[in-house]
Amino acid sequence: MTIPDNYSCVHAIPSLDDYMRLRRESGLTPRDALAAEAGLPNSFVAVVIAHEGETVGMGRVIGDGGLFFQVVDIAVLPAHQGKGLGKAIMRALMDRLAQSIAAAAYVSLIADGEARHLYAAHGFAPVAPKSISMA
Ligand SMILES: CC(C)(COP(=O)(O)OP(=O)(O)OC[C@H]1O[C@@H](n2cnc3c(N)ncnc32)[C@H](O)[C@@H]1OP(=O)(O)O)[C@@H](O)C(=O)NCCC(=O)NCCS
Repeated sequence: MTIPDNYSCVHAIPSLDDYMRLRRESGLTPRDALAAEAGLPNSFVAVVIAHEGETVGMGRVIGDGGLFFQVVDIAVLPAHQGKGLGKAIMRALMDRLAQSIAAAAYVSLIADGEARHLYAAHGFAPVAPKSISMA
């Protein structure tokens, strides 16, 4: 599935302002700006979705470059949801990851609510009850 013509999906780290705005407006827990400023440049893979000059979606993978990776910050602004953008973000992240890490690397994520269906389509499966996520 491709995304609508007036959207573009590119490999790029979101700007600090876009990151803070997308987290807030998509309903994710807002993050501290100083922490975001320090963390964003260390993204292993990052994707943004642009629409008419505005960033409307994002996703990142963080990790140590070899052993462990985590999918984070998957977000699409509410007005742009349901158009395949979340799938495009995941596809772009997973394609780049497949090119750059060993098959034995451990890639995990924490799925909020219905987003688990999006992740299941990319091969992610619950680890409970053998393991539970803790934070
Ligand atoms: C999750 C999110 C990124 C999905 O973005 P999107 O552009 O709407 O997703 P898409 O249109 O590409 O596809 C949605 C797919 O994900 C799943 N999905 C995501 N949210 C869903 C919901 N609320 N209800 C049902 N399915 C949902 C479905 O499998 C769906 O596929 P389908 O249309 O073939 O059934 C978006 O809803 C969002 O930003 N939510 C708020 C932030 C958030 O919860 N992020 C995830 C944190 S783990």
